[in-house]
Parts: sequence; structure tokens; C-alpha cells
Amino acid sequence: MGLTVSLKQLTDELDQLEQKAVKDVQAALNEEALEKLRISLLGKKGRLSKVLGSMANLTSSERPLVGQRANVLKNQLQQLFDNRLRSIKNKALEASIAKETIDVTIPPTGFPFGNRHPLITTTEQIIDLFCGLGYEVKEGPEIENDFYNFAALNIPEEHPARDMQDTFYLRNNLLLRTHTSPVQIRSLEQMKPPVRIVAPGRVYRRDAVDATHSPVFNQVEVLAIDEGLDFSHLRGTVMAFLKSFFGDLPVRFRASYFPFTEPSAEVDVQWKGRWLEVMGCGMVDPAVLEELGIDSERWTGFAAGLGVERFCMVRHGIDDIRKLYTSDFRFLEQF
Ligand code: DAH
Repeated sequence: MGLTVSLKQLTDELDQLEQKAVKDVQAALNEEALEKLRISLLGKKGRLSKVLGSMANLTSSERPLVGQRANVLKNQLQQLFDNRLRSIKNKALEASIAKETIDVTIPPTGFPFGNRHPLITTTEQIIDLFCGLGYEVKEGPEIENDFYNFAALNIPEEHPARDMQDTFYLRNNLLLRTHTSPVQIRSLEQMKPPVRIVAPGRVYRRDAVDATHSPVFNQVEVLAIDEGLDFSHLRGTVMAFLKSFFGDLPVRFRASYFPFTEPSAEVDVQWKGRWLEVMGCGMVDPAVLEELGIDSERWTGFAAGLGVERFCMVRHGIDDIRKLYTSDFRFLEQF
């Protein structure tokens, strides 16, 4: 502004400043833009200061007119800025509240509940069916000794039957049990006949892993000792159990050999056009009972060892035993 500035020019300038400021303040959309605008208008080097600075050229009677007008405008603008700032802050708050609102009517996407493993449920289904027939559950240790795992089951040292079950040996004559049959012996040491037990558990063999073998697997042992039990009771029990578990799958008994049963059989079910062995069984060898001090003239019994993985695989159509051990959620979530 030059030296020739007049009162009229200054008041016009203030009018323009006011009009433009009102528009600009409304147009400022956030705190930052508003603050910039405030400094450009009301700051030390802002437009209002400039107008006041050029008042020196006015007469002493004109000066207070412009000064008053400028002061009023300054207060007005300050008020305008304050209001605008409040409204910007309110809008931001409303926006963030709207964003954080929880819509309780949206359907849930599901919650990752844990599932029971199919081997556990299969074991429980087997046990439940036998419990329905009056059997009770017994358990034994996974670390066994030679006596319970072999000798007491009529498998003396050097007996070729030991080769049927390649064993993990531990120190101090201990071993990982190769089957659940030792629970038969442990139970008969404690219980008096008549006895009806089922014994679920893990067993161990030095088998290479493939689609049908695992060095750790699960069995359920079945044992019934009573007066007058014969092979028809074994067969009737096994058939009733298999029918409950599988429905009407074809079943066959195949003559076999186990040192602790005589006669012995293996039981197959027909699945996907092939016969699949699911258990070994037989009449408890009298020699086993006599060793335990049980009168084998009076008491007879039958026993069976069920392969839990086989039951599980047939039941659920699983073609590879390894799927049961790899903890792959995509597999496990199906159960
Ligand atoms: N213990 C046998 C095995 O693991 C299976 C078995 C066969 C168990 C006959 C029995 C039985 O109780 O009577 O190969």
C-alpha cells in the first residue's frame, strides 16, 4: 500500500477481507487448513496487521475509525475461527464414532472352536458299544516289561512270535508295549472272574511309516472271562459290535495264530472292494489263565485286539493313516 492510501481504501480493504475470510473459513475442511488460514489473516504478518500498518498515512481523526473497525473485525474473525474449529472437531468425532459402531445384526463369521480328534471319538465309540454290553474300561502303562508284553502272554524268549512285533526296547529290560494285550494280564492279576473289560491305548512298533503303517498306533483290547464261554460267544459279540459300528459291511473270520489264544482268528471287513483286517481275536489259551492261578477247567474266555486307526479310516473314508497324525487343520476341521 502506497503513501496515498485513503480512509476509503482501507475500509474497503477491511470489507473485502471480511467477506473473503467468512467464505474461506467455511471452506477450510480440517484443523490444519484452518490454522494456516488463521495465521495468514490474524498472524503477526497477516493481512489484518498489514492494514493496520498502513494506518500511519491517515489523519489523526481517521485513524481511530479504522482502528476500531479493525478491532471489531479481529474479534469477529477470532470467533469465526473458534466456531469453525469446534465444528471440524465434532465432525471428526462423529466420523470416528460412526466407524467404530458395532453392527450387532451382522451374521457371525464363525469362531474357531477346538474339535475332538477322530481317533479319540472312534476309540470312545468302540468303548461305548462294549460298555453297553457290560464291559468296563481298564488302562495299563505304555512302558512295559518283557513279562507283561510277552512272557505272560505265552510268548517265551526266542519264540518266533516276537518277530511278528518289532519292538522298541528301553533300558533296564523295559520296552514300549507292542499291543494292549498286557492289560489283560494286569487286569486278571487284580480282578476275579467273571471279568469283562475293554482297554484302549497307544502301542508302538518299529514299522516304517507308509499309508497303512505308523510306529505309534491305537488299539482297544477286549477280554471276557466267564463260565461256559466258547467261540460262539466270541463270534456273536464281535458280529454284534461290528454291526453297531459299521452297519451292514460284509465281515469274515479268518483262521490265524496268536500265542495267547487258541483257536485264533483275524476279522476282516469288506471296504472299497477289498478285505481289510480290523482285529485279531480268539479263545484265551488255558495256559495263560493257569499261569495267573485261574482254574481253566472252570473259567474260559475270549479276547480281541482292535486296530482303532482301521475303524476310524473305514468309518470316515480316510485312505492314508498319516493324515491322522499330521495335525493338518484342513483335514481335522472336517470332524
Ligand atoms: N495283540 C494282538 C496284536 O496286537 C492282537 C490280538 C489278537 C489281541 C488276538 C487279542 C487277541 O486279544 O485275542 O497283534
